[in-house]
Amino acid sequence: MTSAWTRESWRTKPVVQLPEYRDQDALKSAEQRLSAFPPLVFAGEARSLKKTLGDVAGGRGFLLQGGDCAESFAEFHPDNIRDTFRVMLQMAVVLTFGAAVPIVKLGRMAGQFAKPRSASTETIDGVELPSYRGDMVNGMAFTPEEREPDPERLIQAYNQSAATLNLLRAFSQGGYADLQKVHQWTLGFVGDSAQAERYKDVADRIQEALAFMEACGITGAVVPSMRETDFYTSHESLLLPYEESLTRMDSTSGRWYACSAHMLWIGERTRQLDHAHVEFLSGVDNPIGFKAGPTIDPDDLLKLIDTLNPNNEAGRITVITRMGANKLQDHLPKLIQAVEREGRTVVWSCDPMHANTVKSDSGYKTRRFDAILEEVRAFFAVHRGEGTHAGGVHFEMTGQDVTECVGGAQAITDASLGDRYHTHCDPRLNASQALELAFLVSEMLKQERNAAFTAAAAAS
Ligand code: PEP
Ligand code: CO
Repeated sequence: MTSAWTRESWRTKPVVQLPEYRDQDALKSAEQRLSAFPPLVFAGEARSLKKTLGDVAGGRGFLLQGGDCAESFAEFHPDNIRDTFRVMLQMAVVLTFGAAVPIVKLGRMAGQFAKPRSASTETIDGVELPSYRGDMVNGMAFTPEEREPDPERLIQAYNQSAATLNLLRAFSQGGYADLQKVHQWTLGFVGDSAQAERYKDVADRIQEALAFMEACGITGAVVPSMRETDFYTSHESLLLPYEESLTRMDSTSGRWYACSAHMLWIGERTRQLDHAHVEFLSGVDNPIGFKAGPTIDPDDLLKLIDTLNPNNEAGRITVITRMGANKLQDHLPKLIQAVEREGRTVVWSCDPMHANTVKSDSGYKTRRFDAILEEVRAFFAVHRGEGTHAGGVHFEMTGQDVTECVGGAQAITDASLGDRYHTHCDPRLNASQALELAFLVSEMLKQERNAAFTAAAAAS
């Protein structure tokens, strides 16, 4: 953090990917109202998440981050929130049970509304309009009215985030996440017997273990973590006027926290060292992340880490790589070696989505399940080679039975993409594909653990 940091110091820096609001008075008014609204999260929660991520960085846990590419106003519905929460619980169970490591559950939820775009305008039939930048900025329909950035959308995004977070808190603390209900989380499962069967098997074994523990006197009544869970929220810290308005000083520590979510990350297009997004996040005390695409070199990476985490605090930084399997194999070893050589502490997480977006023959933006899997495998293989911990995954996914990514056990084809293609931005894994990946990741984590045991035994 530079000494000159303030909530608004980002405004003095070059900035990309922010919308141009025509009505600056309306923007000011929305910012003022947001500044007076209650924070969505509390600093103590962000500190707890940072501590847990510090454990992940030290090899004692695994980060599961997932949710929509872009939340939308149209799909705001309790069932959607519940279904994504539920599939994340299922994935966490599979990972915990298979790999015996604590899983940090972090939703791309309750604030993931703003999108960076490769072009600031879109032209259709000779008509040029501003690009859609997420429901928090403008509307998706290709009309001048909808595409005009509207500051009132900031307020609607805040309200939707507050209601979403409220339900997530109720689910995670109010009994829904009770391990005794491990079977009931499967109820939404339709049509995919392969994953459902596998999950049922894990759930049966957990239930058996719970019965044994109950006989020994260990129940949810005495061990709260058996009947509730910690579920955190995150989004891309893109729309800085919104983030600034929700940044508050924590009275107990005197430090600044971005109170729009527990964790924020910087996107691939906004991580320039001397730009506004890095400046803003350098001064808040939350755990933060940044995307690392194939163009990042070890020097860039270290500078970014040191700018954002000068005290090398564990849990502060999550490096989210997104390169595609081949490039990851080429580039990730050098990045890991530089971080190890300099003694920096980070969580390494793998986003296997954003370098694997392709256009299908039928014209849909899609991702091949196999390409996603290949990048995850490459990520684990590189870490195994370097002797470092593959710390987490970052998925665009939903609990809904959508058809947006091709492949997986359901064998979704190009031709069937149109059946249930609902995303407001990038294609997401559906519940079955997400669970399938969790089983595969669980296997890889198990291998990592066994390799560590073997190495420790050989050394002793
Ligand atoms: C995203 O996470 O939706 C995104 C835009 O990713 P990236 O910044 O890695 O392109
Ligand atoms: Co995306």
